[in-house]
Amino acid sequence: MALNIRGRSFLTLLDYTPEEINYLLDLSAEFKRMKQTGTAHKWLSDKQIVLLFEKTSTRTRCSFEVAARDLGMGVTFLDPGSSQMGKKESLADTAKVLGRLYDGIEYRGYKQSVVEDLAKYSGVPVWNGLTDDFHPTQMLADILTAREEFGDLRGRKLTFFGDARNNVANSLMVVCAKLGLHYCACGPKELMPAEWLIEKCHDIAGETGAVLEFTDDPAQGAKDCDILYTDIWLSMGEPAELWEQRIRLLLPYQVNGALLEKAKPTAIFLHCLPAFHDRETTVGEEIYQKFGLEAMEVTDEVFLGTHARQFREAENRMHTIKAVLYATLH
Ligand code: CP
Ligand code: NVA
Repeated sequence: MALNIRGRSFLTLLDYTPEEINYLLDLSAEFKRMKQTGTAHKWLSDKQIVLLFEKTSTRTRCSFEVAARDLGMGVTFLDPGSSQMGKKESLADTAKVLGRLYDGIEYRGYKQSVVEDLAKYSGVPVWNGLTDDFHPTQMLADILTAREEFGDLRGRKLTFFGDARNNVANSLMVVCAKLGLHYCACGPKELMPAEWLIEKCHDIAGETGAVLEFTDDPAQGAKDCDILYTDIWLSMGEPAELWEQRIRLLLPYQVNGALLEKAKPTAIFLHCLPAFHDRETTVGEEIYQKFGLEAMEVTDEVFLGTHARQFREAENRMHTIKAVLYATLH
């Protein structure tokens, strides 16, 4: 069924019903088919959007740009060095100006309140491209990828191993609660989600039949697991001094061959990316020199193995972001 979400912002999946999320997923699959069959869909050629990035990005930026161009839209990219926002012009004033020039605004940055204020003051749809608290566009790609693998996901167990209170983990808990999955947050007690969010997700789960599990035991997290998910141990914006503490806390939750063996034989591995799975990055090499670790949150055995789906997941960022753009703008 085609639902109408025209004019809405996409700030957190807490604002969306299960039906609306499923509508966006169906639309994403449709856009993916069109892209694969070379079917043109420049349906929004009268629209212009702006992308505001206060943190770095590969997938999110490129997905928004490609999706917008495929839809025929014009795109402007602004990084912190190339706009007045925050330094010489308040957020509210910037939002009011951008809302008069553009049909929609993507924002990646720090506080969730910033993306919410942008929506409040601009008067146009605002899409959250990641804040400290949430990463909602990532969720659509993750769920689409899992759906492509398993079909109906209700009752499937998705375990997040690691920093279970970061933006990606928070959003996974929300989307799993909304769509009736079994979500397991597996990490040290110090890095569990905030109480208020757990309570909200419990309320949602009460309506959808989702199951929420919290454990500091990696074997328990892997038991009966269909989807093993992990993310970087130190998120953008967190100080590098925390690496040592995070490594100590999170090494037991590394997704490696031994952990994968404890999951269902049909399980898949997902990662939002970027990933520290080898020494081929400056940070990866620094960590090796300092702590002797060849890999952090996931080993090459899993990352390059037959259960890995993270690159399909990365491609799905574009198809799902396109669905969000189209559904909120057409
Ligand atoms: N997964 C993700 O958001 O990647 P980028 O940081 O490269 O955008
Ligand atoms: N938790 C990570 C996600 C990156 C896509 C971060 O915020 O850096």
